[in-house]
Amino acid sequence: MTAMPAQSLYTSKASKVQHWLDFDGYSGGDIRALLALAKELKTARAKGEQTHLLAGKTLAMIFEKASTRTRVSFEVGMYELGGHALYLGSSATQLGRGEPLSDTARVLSRYVHGIMMRTYGHDTLQEIAKFASVPVINGLTDTHHPCQALADLLTIEEHFGQLRGVTLAYVGDGNNIAHSLIQACALTGMHIRVATPVAYAPDPVIVSVAQQWAAASGSQIVMTNDPVVAVTGADIVYTDVWASMGQEEEADARQSAFTSYQVTETLLQSAHHDALFMHDLPAHRGEEVSAEVIDGARSIVFDQAENRLHAQKALLVRLLAPGTTAS
Ligand code: CP
Ligand code: NVA
Repeated sequence: MTAMPAQSLYTSKASKVQHWLDFDGYSGGDIRALLALAKELKTARAKGEQTHLLAGKTLAMIFEKASTRTRVSFEVGMYELGGHALYLGSSATQLGRGEPLSDTARVLSRYVHGIMMRTYGHDTLQEIAKFASVPVINGLTDTHHPCQALADLLTIEEHFGQLRGVTLAYVGDGNNIAHSLIQACALTGMHIRVATPVAYAPDPVIVSVAQQWAAASGSQIVMTNDPVVAVTGADIVYTDVWASMGQEEEADARQSAFTSYQVTETLLQSAHHDALFMHDLPAHRGEEVSAEVIDGARSIVFDQAENRLHAQKALLVRLLAPGTTAS
């Protein structure tokens, strides 16, 4: 990994430990190295080889929202690396009774070698990272889901043989998944076109910073309100739920706003003839995607889900045992 900038929000001032809160502070080379390690670990697992690179290490996993993939892939990943993972549902900890984030971060840092957290505001995660003296990993916030995007990059590289120059069309809500995909594409030279309703566009600050990264990597980033403009000629069509966790009360309004953004076979006809369909899951068939698309031959959603395990194992090794190599 490259050295973190001295003023980075993502580096604890106390310890200079490296966190994974979003893609900021990481280079395209860092991401390529993580993907290479992920592939190495995936191959070793397929051969039944043990890779106990985190023997004796423990990860605390704080969940303030529901999860299937993130919880299971981190817990299994730590086990397969010879370590241990602790599930901490926030309502069952003193966090749920008002213990400060700063105290929680400092206490957990005395017990464990890494903290993974799924929460609402990104500032909550930043506060944990500010006070933790061990690496903090974003397991999803309202604005970022970098673990998902890392697994998606691995999946795309497996299917296309490369990242640079591959065009991804994201159709739907300008949410955490959209933000992390924009950042991931900008760093790796992928092109991304994002189609959202006007009121649900991605955060312009995130887009603007990503545009600067894109200028260095050769990536092209396009924002539009027209799904057909985004999808035309694309190699990948990606969507996510219209109402994310924490937005349940907006579900009806969002249903109306996003009706013309459903990924259907008709929309896919505008994409490249070999285009693939991606979704981070969980999915709502008949809302953001038709059942025939997500359950059809172009869909690689379960490859994405599987790759959460391999990508996160690489991330855990890099953060919890920096300097370690698998082979
Ligand atoms: N894609 C994803 O993060 O899934 P979970 O919510 O099940 O963890
Ligand atoms: N945008 C979704 C992603 C779930 C993995 C959410 O935040 O609920």
